[in-house]
Amino acid sequence: MAAEYDSIALQFQKLNKLPYRLYGEAYTYLNLIADVTGKSILDLACGEGFFTRLLKQNGAARLVGVDISSEMIKLARLEEASVPLEIEYIIGDVMEIGSIGSFDLVVASYLLNYASTKEQLLKMCQAIAIHLKPGGRFVSLNNNLELLPEFYDKHEKYGIARRCAQSLQEGTPITLTLSIPDDGESISIDNYYLSQATYEWALMSAGFKEIRWHHPIVSPKGIQKFGSEFWQDYIDYPDMIGITCLK
Ligand SMILES: C[S@@+](CC[C@H](N)C(=O)[O-])C[C@H]1O[C@@H](n2cnc3c(N)ncnc32)[C@H](O)[C@@H]1O
Repeated sequence: MAAEYDSIALQFQKLNKLPYRLYGEAYTYLNLIADVTGKSILDLACGEGFFTRLLKQNGAARLVGVDISSEMIKLARLEEASVPLEIEYIIGDVMEIGSIGSFDLVVASYLLNYASTKEQLLKMCQAIAIHLKPGGRFVSLNNNLELLPEFYDKHEKYGIARRCAQSLQEGTPITLTLSIPDDGESISIDNYYLSQATYEWALMSAGFKEIRWHHPIVSPKGIQKFGSEFWQDYIDYPDMIGITCLK
């Protein structure tokens, strides 16, 4: 996994310019996370720190980002060196990081869909839970587990292609091919399907309650810029889902 992202880190960073990233994902995620003023936040699978920086800029008191890919963390640290926000970045596998502190909020966008078995998913959820203070919240963006493969093509116009060789069963690999803006290239990444019931089991077994699933929303600026029609499939066939729960 680390090697997979090491080789595509620079290209992945370019995705941050894309409409679905800015006006869909970031808007949905920040709405779910809500007010971060004065909070301590752990960002697991932080990548090159796109959301980590946004949360610090929005007023969080302390931010720590963890990612398994040293190249992703290298890019995050380069950003930190150029515009210091006092974010600490750590290279590590979420399933093996042990304890690095206690936080008000743990966030993780596109981490859980790297678990290929329910045991791995449980390990990730336990790692999230041990880093939260009692009453703390976990907020995540994830592949929408309920999007059927027959609708995968609805997202190609946004630059997201998904393929799976078989029908969706526990552990089925889903290959995600993302178009990189400007250079006409693309990157491919494998995620894994586990059912919503398995996610709820893993979160509850790790001690979470009030598990909620949230459909994506699009910012007024995104609608103004690209028009409602552009976003219709994004909303009608969500490929991303937000998850919130409480410890
Ligand atoms: C799609 S990227 C998302 C990055 C970031 N959260 C964002 O939304 O911009 C997924 C990230 O998960 C990281 N990752 C995957 N499995 C991991 C694990 N077990 N521990 C830590 N990071 C992991 C990858 O290295 C990659 O940076």
